[in-house]
Amino acid sequence: MSNVTVVGTQWGDEGKGKVIDWLSTRADMAVRFQGGNNAGHTIAVGDKTYKTALLPSTVVQGKLSIIGNGVVVDPWALLDEIARARSVGLSVTPENLVISEAATVVLPLHRELDLAREARAGDKKIGTTGRGIGPAYEDKAGRRAIRYADLADPAALSDRVERLLAHHNPLRVDLGLQVLAAEDVLAPLSEVYPLLAPHIQPVVWRRINNAIANGRRVLFEGAQAAMLDVDHGTYPYTTSSNTVSGQVSAGAGVPVQAMGRVLGIVKAYTTRVGAGPFPTELFDETGERLTRGGAGGLGAEFGTNTGRKRRCGWFDAVLVRQSVELNGVSGIVLTKLDVLDGFPSVKICTGYELDGESIDYLPARLCDAQSLVPIYEECEGWTESSQGIRDWEQLPEAAKRYVRRIETLVGAPLFLLGTSPQRDDTIVLKDPFEG
Ligand code: GDP
Ligand code: IMO
Ligand code: MG
Repeated sequence: MSNVTVVGTQWGDEGKGKVIDWLSTRADMAVRFQGGNNAGHTIAVGDKTYKTALLPSTVVQGKLSIIGNGVVVDPWALLDEIARARSVGLSVTPENLVISEAATVVLPLHRELDLAREARAGDKKIGTTGRGIGPAYEDKAGRRAIRYADLADPAALSDRVERLLAHHNPLRVDLGLQVLAAEDVLAPLSEVYPLLAPHIQPVVWRRINNAIANGRRVLFEGAQAAMLDVDHGTYPYTTSSNTVSGQVSAGAGVPVQAMGRVLGIVKAYTTRVGAGPFPTELFDETGERLTRGGAGGLGAEFGTNTGRKRRCGWFDAVLVRQSVELNGVSGIVLTKLDVLDGFPSVKICTGYELDGESIDYLPARLCDAQSLVPIYEECEGWTESSQGIRDWEQLPEAAKRYVRRIETLVGAPLFLLGTSPQRDDTIVLKDPFEG
């Protein structure tokens, strides 16, 4: 298989960054196709730790990294990230970082609107990352967004900004934010544009298609996850983009067949950050122990970029199976198995009860999703450490049974298994680029 698409199957933070970094050795390039700097990935290699948000995780290995048209890009956040990457020795150049000129610009007014709406929503807030992602996608769908291509033409840009402000200023007044003049938006953009201009390219979609035609191996890098998808997630507690594999086509500009093998990243338990339904959430010491990264303490559950504590719970096979079906997942990568070391027993949710009926899917209605009672199956735990194991045979027997049970319940075979944050602490059952 020449191309691989990586998607999250739960509520994000499954360890996609580590997997993409691992796959980067085998790939020629990566393309981000949705989301923005709401994503946050941690990649550990030896004593170095890299954090990425907008930069595709292939940047760690200096591979060609493309930010596709479907991404919403905050130019200031991107420049900060480039500076941070360079400060830890990574090379980011116009040759290895390309931004599609059709990508959407996230402006300070988007961030302000995101934060002001959340503040006003009180206990009804979504718990967004506060990066302006929702408002930026709203403007894109409303056909008033600024795209990177617009930055090259000051006269046309001025016109676009006027139209944008005609929409935003009344909202800003309503939220108690200062009214903006066109120059307030244009001046900062004119400072930042020359710094990013060498990376902004036309017809990026053709470049990707040509690379595929020439036998290059392309990695399509998904951010967030299926349960945060604006159509398929726990709406309205979702992000504002489509996160499922089908978005590769629209967000990178390639035919659907180009996505290749779809790899679903699955955490060995469940986490979510921000508000919204979470049927298997734990509020006890078990949940706290998962938050701490288990007995081994690696990969504690705090947001990479926002630092927020993640909510934790048992593995939910119903929602991962749903993700497998929605994404056409052909293989899974199970991450953070080591966090479950030392639990006397581990539970898997195999179905839900709703108003006395049993169901095997996440209902679309919010009040239904909030009322689900998980049906659990209990699995034997393991006392031995799995941390850092790189060979399937060396895993504790009960851990192997847990993994095999997950494969059966979610309906997809295991390709890779993670046993620590480190790149090489990965058990390979099947190479996603082979066969
Ligand atoms: P992403 O957003 O899906 O890329 O995931 P994040 O990077 O936000 O969160 C995953 C966290 O788990 C990071 O701190 C990783 O270093 C860590 N991690 C990834 N894989 C493993 C694993 O197999 N075991 C452990 N203990 N930690 C892992
Ligand atoms: P990665 O790529 C986990 C969540 C936010 C919030 C909701 C909406 O690291 O897995 P937004 O800022 O997108 O409008 O927030 O989505 N969220 C994530 N949760 N991992 C992410 O990305 C997320 N990106 C957004 O916490 O609940
Ligand atoms: Mg993350």
